[in-house]
Formats: sequence, structure tokens, C-alpha cells
Amino acid sequence: MNGVQTIQKKFTKQEAKIVQKEIRQSPDITGYSLRELLRLKTVFKAFISNEFAGACANFDFGKDWTELSAFIVIGHHRGQGIGGKLFRTAFIDAIKRKRNIYIVSRNPAMINIIKKYDFKIITSFWQLPAAVIIDTFIFAISWYRTKEFLRKLPMKKSGKFIFGTKLAHS
Ligand SMILES: CC(C)(COP(=O)(O)OP(=O)(O)OC[C@H]1O[C@@H](n2cnc3c(N)ncnc32)[C@H](O)[C@@H]1OP(=O)(O)O)[C@@H](O)C(=O)NCCC(=O)NCCS
Repeated sequence: MNGVQTIQKKFTKQEAKIVQKEIRQSPDITGYSLRELLRLKTVFKAFISNEFAGACANFDFGKDWTELSAFIVIGHHRGQGIGGKLFRTAFIDAIKRKRNIYIVSRNPAMINIIKKYDFKIITSFWQLPAAVIIDTFIFAISWYRTKEFLRKLPMKKSGKFIFGTKLAHS
């Protein structure tokens, strides 16, 4: 997409607040505390005319895994190719660093991307690699996410969760 600039740099406090606010409005992601967002190391951000328009991060876990995290495009910028561009940047980073990639999503645009990039699609949580299952449990232990999970219970979700994996050597 023309006019979109992507950079790799950690979130500023102001950007983390925007991301958190935007995620709070999305029924499909539970979210992250500000502290977690500010701690993310490998962050990709998109700007249009210097305006912060979206982001995603590669969160490394286990020996050689990374999870696409905090993937969000600001509401009025969606559907214009920004998410696709951010994804591509994060994907290339993970491949270069020889990390296996893991994605969990129920968002239709994200599922579209997973299929386009030929991820292995897994529909049962228990069929995921052990490293992913362990990390999921660690991730779930969070007061912030428990509160958000309960707050979002009445929100209409886009569909069922889909898990996507891409092994570094595939
Ligand atoms: C997921 C998200 C980041 C995608 O960003 P985006 O800028 O809207 O995505 P793009 O416009 O680049 O579209 C990416 C692909 O999804 C498709 N797509 C976009 N919106 C779609 C929709 N509502 N339904 C189905 N497919 C859609 C596009 O056609 C494109 O596919 P293509 O490359 O084959 O044309 C954005 O929708 C978002 O912030 N959603 C809320 C948060 C969320 O659920 N994040 C995912 C967490 S895993």
C-alpha cells in the first residue's frame, strides 16, 4: 500500500496506550497490559503521514518459536493493506531469525493471511506443539487478561479460534 511506512522499534508509552485502547474494542483478542506492551522487544509499527496506524510484534518463546502478537490496525485504517504489510515484515523477520511461527486468531482478515502464507492450520488446541501449549498456559496466567476475558464475554466474536504454525525449516 502506498504511503505506508513500517519501522521496527519498541512501543512508546503513547503508542502502547493507543494499541491497548484499540485492542480493548476488539472482541477477538484478550489483550495485553501496558507493561507487557512496553516490554515487547521485536515490534513493527506502521505510519501513514507520520500518524501511527497499526502494529504487530514477534514474541519469542521456547527454544525457537515466535508468536505474532499485538497485531492491530487502527479501526479507520483497516482493509487498506496495512495489516498485510505489517504481517509480511514480521514474517520475514521470523524467517530470517529461523524461528517457528505460531498464530492464534479468530479474526477473518488474520485467517485469510494465515492461509495465504501457507501456514499449517490446526483446529484442536491439543494438537499444537508442546512448546506452544506450555506458553499458552503461561500467557493465560494474567490478572489483566482474566478481567478482559470476563469484560469481553458478552461481545460477539468473529468465529472459532484457528491455530496456524509455520516451521522454520518448511
Ligand atoms: C487483523 C487486522 C490487523 C488486519 O489488518 P488490515 O489492515 O485490516 O488487513 P489488510 O487490509 O492488509 O488485509 C489483509 C488480508 O485480509 C483480507 N481481509 C481484510 N479484511 C477482511 C475481512 N473483514 N474479512 C475477510 N478478509 C479480510 C484482505 O483482503 C487481505 O487479503 P489479501 O491480501 O488476499 O487481499 C485488523 O483487521 C485488525 O486490527 N483487527 C482487530 C484486531 C485483531 O483481531 N487482530 C488479529 C489478532 S491475531
